Amino acid sequence: MSMVKQTIRDDVQSTQAYVVAPSEGMLKLDAMENPHELPEALRAELADLLKDASLNRYPVPTLAGVESALRASTSIPTAAKVMFGNGSDELIDIIIRSCCMPGDCVLSPVPTFVMYAVSAQWAHARFVGVDLKPDFTLDIPATLKAISVNQPKVVFLAYPNNPTGVALTQAEIVQIIQAAPGLVVVDEAYEAFAEDSFISRLLEFPNVLVLRTLSKLGLAGIRLGYAVASQPWIEQLDKVRPPYNVNILTRVVAEFALNHFEVITQQTRALKDNRKTLSDSLRSLGQGRPEFQVYDSHANFLLVRLNQALEVFESLKKQGILVKYLGKAHPLLQNCLRITVSTESENQQFLNALQQALAQIDAKAA
Ligand SMILES: Cc1ncc(COP(=O)(O)O)c(C=O)c1O
Repeated sequence: MSMVKQTIRDDVQSTQAYVVAPSEGMLKLDAMENPHELPEALRAELADLLKDASLNRYPVPTLAGVESALRASTSIPTAAKVMFGNGSDELIDIIIRSCCMPGDCVLSPVPTFVMYAVSAQWAHARFVGVDLKPDFTLDIPATLKAISVNQPKVVFLAYPNNPTGVALTQAEIVQIIQAAPGLVVVDEAYEAFAEDSFISRLLEFPNVLVLRTLSKLGLAGIRLGYAVASQPWIEQLDKVRPPYNVNILTRVVAEFALNHFEVITQQTRALKDNRKTLSDSLRSLGQGRPEFQVYDSHANFLLVRLNQALEVFESLKKQGILVKYLGKAHPLLQNCLRITVSTESENQQFLNALQQALAQIDAKAA
């Protein structure tokens, strides 16, 4: 047996690496990115700031400028504390490692964002997924029962959920918070595209943390997420955070972008409008196709169920358009595709390609 095989954990060896689909030259509608960049004039200003960043120094330990820009642009309760991460992915990992000893439970309704289960696995925690109902709303009795049986240290609620786009009701969130014996993480990665947020209610409860990210706001490349919670939670979690986890380039870009939050708001508002147009167009494209279903979304993507989704995915790919095929991710997602909402012209490009894909499939079947 090789030294690698003898040394690396068995569960690591039997796991596939997270695959980021190759996308060079393609229209990328698979990863919920914001299609807009900062306007040219702002980018030039930002380049000047980056020129003066002290790359030879470790980053300063606090992100005070980012935090005050954030507090000015979002409704973080004044008494709540903020902790930053290298994307919210890192914060999910820190939360689980801070709370769970081997064998402790992490629970979430599923299907949901995969990193909750992945981070639980690497922490030797036990991930319990509670199936959503077929319409992707919460199965409250099953969830409450699973909480009571498994006594999770951490419950993750993606609000709105990825990959379904469905949002829990706040009454459901409260029911879960009150039933949970440990921390409830309300993951608001898609808050900018939703109608509601839980952040203002955070401090009503002793066991809630709200997770946010700049990734869906046109800043996926800088990797910055943040956790908002009462002081005692952040004080403990901060011990597990690696020092210097947010690099200086991220800090400079985030502070600059957040100080121009009106640009971000304008972009997200346009994407919300485009979501409506795209879902309307998809629904009319699906007319006469009994299996074709477009789910209502509160995020910057749409979940669509249609016949032969894998063939449609492949045909789109051949036409240079990358979406996410979810058919293998969970039994409830059979024949589902997830499509990021983009600009009007990119959405139209996608619709044209989809029409072509459906026509090809129909012709084969005829
Ligand atoms: C629900 C949810 N939480 C967190 C993340 C991770 O975001 P980040 O880019 O900040 O790591 C994603 C990314 O898709 C997500 O869908």
